[in-house]
Amino acid sequence: MTNRAFVAGNWKMNGSRADIDAFVDQLKPRIDDHLPRMAVCVPFVYVSRLAEALGGVGVATGGQDVAGETEPGAFTGEVSASMLADCGATYAVVGHSERRAMYGETDDIVVAKTRAAIAGGITPIVCVGETLEQRDADEVEAVLNRQLGAVLEGCSDEELSKIVLAYEPVWAIGTGRSATPEQAQEIHAFLRSQIAKRADTLSRSLSIVYGGSVKPDNAKAIFAGDDVDGALVGGASLKADSFADIAHAMASQSATN
Ligand code: 13P
Repeated sequence: MTNRAFVAGNWKMNGSRADIDAFVDQLKPRIDDHLPRMAVCVPFVYVSRLAEALGGVGVATGGQDVAGETEPGAFTGEVSASMLADCGATYAVVGHSERRAMYGETDDIVVAKTRAAIAGGITPIVCVGETLEQRDADEVEAVLNRQLGAVLEGCSDEELSKIVLAYEPVWAIGTGRSATPEQAQEIHAFLRSQIAKRADTLSRSLSIVYGGSVKPDNAKAIFAGDDVDGALVGGASLKADSFADIAHAMASQSATN
């Protein structure tokens, strides 16, 4: 399996302390050395509990957002990267389409959060993706170039080497309609080629994961693409078994490549 392989869960606004404990209990026996890097991104209030429960399991903890500010101060409601790290997190989702669409996150904000995450010792999982209208209007590459371009422009090579990129077509999120393996591979190859224009070595080491209705039954096919390095899983990450099945699909897909 390549070093790029990565499977992360995004619990969104779901879960409870009891759910965290039950999830970790069920996940533990399913983890082995053959699996890719894994992380579970939970609501801020559960980060500490998850990180403690996962201690020694070999699965990382993440938040679902991070402040764009790095210094402590008067930013009511914000959570900084160093606070996340202090609570045991090593990842944070940044620029998820739900935050872009519902909470007004612009490309500039996404860049600020990406950089602040890295400065605070957190690996940002930076999300890009087009809506159905944009796909129907043949604007996929333009949209991705805008979203990714902002990150490429705003970050140094050193910073870029510390991110994970997630391609999440908005029309595939929570709809049960995932991108086809061919669609995912096509866009991942496109994203990697755009990054290669900036730095070839960077493009070869960067993890680009797919998100949008990944389930145990479609994961292996989606992971078949050479440029698809894993998944950012929403709904199916809430159950330990389906999340573990997806990680195992990545391991077995990599084994056959
Ligand atoms: P679903 O897997 O529920 O479609 O969600 C994908 C997602 O948004 C992950 O960040």
